[in-house]
Amino acid sequence: MVNGVHFKDELIIYREDDLTRVFKSSCTHLGCQIRQSGDGNLVCPCHGSRFDYYGKVLNGPANSPLEQAKFEVDKIKNELIIYD
Ligand code: FES
Repeated sequence: MVNGVHFKDELIIYREDDLTRVFKSSCTHLGCQIRQSGDGNLVCPCHGSRFDYYGKVLNGPANSPLEQAKFEVDKIKNELIIYD
């Protein structure tokens, strides 16, 4: 997977070289699916909440971070294994 933000099913995958973070894409405000990134953050289409690439809230109305997904990187196969 190349570096950057990827939207897959109900997940957001952030990749930067050896660093990977995986979040649930449900906004913590009212549950809209986040499918957009811009200006270095993740943007909810419903009411405009913004999150950084750690899942932390930058702008409300959401007031809690994106839920992190449990995952593992299989370095041999270069695959992401999601456990949720
Ligand atoms: S559901 Fe995302 S900001 Fe309201």
